[in-house]
Parts: sequence; structure tokens; C-alpha cells
Amino acid sequence: MIGDPLFDSESIASRVAAIAAAISADYSGKRPLMIGRLTAAATFLADLSKAVTVACDVDFIAVTNYGDGVGIVLEQDVSVPVAGRDLILVDDTVDTGLTLQFVVKRLLERAPASLAVCTLLDRPHRRIADIQIKYRAFEAPDVFVVGYGLDYLGRYRELPALYAHGTWPA
Ligand code: IMP
Ligand code: MG
Repeated sequence: MIGDPLFDSESIASRVAAIAAAISADYSGKRPLMIGRLTAAATFLADLSKAVTVACDVDFIAVTNYGDGVGIVLEQDVSVPVAGRDLILVDDTVDTGLTLQFVVKRLLERAPASLAVCTLLDRPHRRIADIQIKYRAFEAPDVFVVGYGLDYLGRYRELPALYAHGTWPA
């Protein structure tokens, strides 16, 4: 079911380096708080945080989307105050943007100094929510992607590259 990589580990490393360089320049003299959305963005955030040259803090947030943006629940909040902080929200995939919009709204309520979105994969043609993406590694085709933290029903997160899965989860 898993074939050749869609994006191999060299391509991922090169995009991570480019985004880390952009973040390092954009946040020069600042100390951003990078917030990864669990669980799929953890791998991307780990690599990104090692590659930035500015001091930064790392934290995580978890939400569950029960479908169609109708029921999104905050499962685990960040562990530090975000008021006055420069936030970089790190996501794995932005499709409709509804999941991300929920998280952005929760964080903006707490008056951070700024909030930028960074995503590994982006499918802009599927967007419903009005979400601005500041940094993105790849535009993803309309296939379900696994590996590098992304799962299909809990599987394949450990793969070092991004692969197309034959089917979408039900
Ligand atoms: P959105 O709310 O429609 O933007 O959904 C984004 C979320 O759907 C992501 O954070 C993932 O959890 C999941 N998702 C969407 N496409 C993929 C994919 O290709 N592989 C793995 N997860 C995906
Ligand atoms: Mg998922």
C-alpha cells in the first residue's frame, strides 16, 4: 500500500532548513514559542527546533476534530502562558483549516504578541477557513499522506519520509 516516497527525507531536510532560516531571520532578537499540534506535527517541530538559530521555546497543544469542524475539542492545552509571546503554531497538514482555526482562536483570546502558522503540508485548494500560512514545507496533492509523524489510523508515524497511502481513513 506504501510505494515510493512522495517527499524523501533529503527533500524534507532541505525544506526544514529553509523554513528554519526564514524563522531565524524573522524572529532575530526574539524568543518565539513554537507550539506543535499533537501528535502528527511533533516530528516536524523536533527537526525545526534543532535547525533554528534563535532561542525558542517548544510546547504542544492537542485537539480532536470529530469531523466537518462541527465538534472540535481541546484535549491538551499548552503548558505555559502565551500572553505577550511570539507564537509559531506548527501543524502537520492544513486542509479546510477548520482544525487550525479552532486552535488559532483559542490562542488569540490570550493576547499573544504575534501568531504565525507553519505547516508541513498544505492543500490550499481545500481551504474553508480564512487562515494565513506564513511558512509551509510542501503543497500536498490530493492523496492521503503518511510518515514523518503523520499516521493512518495510528500507523506509519515512524517512517522518515512522506508517502502516499492508497486510501483515506474512513
Ligand atoms: P483540516 O481541519 O481540514 O485542515 O484538517 C487537517 C487535519 O486533518 C490534519 O491536522 C491531519 O490531522 C488530518 N489530515 C489531513 N490530511 C492528512 C493526510 O494526508 N495525512 C494525515 N493526516 C491528514
Ligand atoms: Mg491525524
